[in-house]
Amino acid sequence: MIDLSGKVILITGGSSGIGTVTVQTLVKAGAEVILHYANNLEKAQAVSESIENNQIHLLQADLSVENASVQLWQDALSFTGNIDVLINNAGIMPSARIEDKLDIWNTAWKNTLQVNLIAVADLCREAIPHFKTRNGGIIINIASRAAFRGDTPEYMHYAASKGGVVALTRSIARGFGNDGVLAYAVAPGFVRTEMAEKFIQDYGEDFVTRDIPLGKIAPPEDVANVIAFLASGLAPHATGTTIDINGASYVR
Ligand SMILES: NC(=O)c1ccc[n+]([C@@H]2O[C@H](COP(=O)([O-])OP(=O)(O)OC[C@H]3O[C@@H](n4cnc5c(N)ncnc54)[C@H](O)[C@@H]3O)[C@@H](O)[C@H]2O)c1
Repeated sequence: MIDLSGKVILITGGSSGIGTVTVQTLVKAGAEVILHYANNLEKAQAVSESIENNQIHLLQADLSVENASVQLWQDALSFTGNIDVLINNAGIMPSARIEDKLDIWNTAWKNTLQVNLIAVADLCREAIPHFKTRNGGIIINIASRAAFRGDTPEYMHYAASKGGVVALTRSIARGFGNDGVLAYAVAPGFVRTEMAEKFIQDYGEDFVTRDIPLGKIAPPEDVANVIAFLASGLAPHATGTTIDINGASYVR
């Protein structure tokens, strides 16, 4: 249904979880995808090989390193000369409690803000001027239900980083809509991936599912399908919006 033929899409964190299923969905819809991965080349190659027409380029960057996003964007552009859609999907969720030692707390806050928010902002900073020269482009930032509902005490930094992602996305939509730049946030609740697995192990599946009226954890396909729709550019006036994917566990 969604046709992404002719579109070049850069997605961060494409070698696992939501990122991998999104890459598969985008390529199936006709897009050429630049798949960014953190450090596991084998995993990234496996994703690439799982896709028949192989419209995929692989790029490594550690987004916990300051300014790594800038190099990533330049490297991505060198593949194709242009990018139509940026999907900021990479993210981390380390645990840090107020009872932990200060250095654990500090490290968790700094790394989480760097990967989940600053690297996202840096990539948007690269993308916006590029999109302006091409009469527009699309930014899709993966936030979280935690941005609105808050999170458990050991993930306050995570919730704060995702709140920042929502505010950043809205600001871009308002500030650069006139230049044809569209910006959307996607806010999943629990999605069955490696990231959610740790929380499920700590709290149990019943705890996770009991406030989800749909009764189960979302599959990554639900998120990937929403991303593919937003990447299509079929609803420009929805710019600035956040799409919730949480089985009605938090209805705003
Ligand atoms: N799974 C969930 O329940 C859930 C819920 C809400 C939001 N999200 C968000 O969805 C996005 C994807 O998460 P996921 O569930 O697929 O988890 P995941 O752990 O499978 O994927 C996270 C991705 O981020 C990449 N990444 C982590 N640290 C990095 C670094 N330093 N440099 C570069 N890349 C790095 C990883 O390589 C991986 O590809 C994240 O932004 C996450 O916060 C997930």
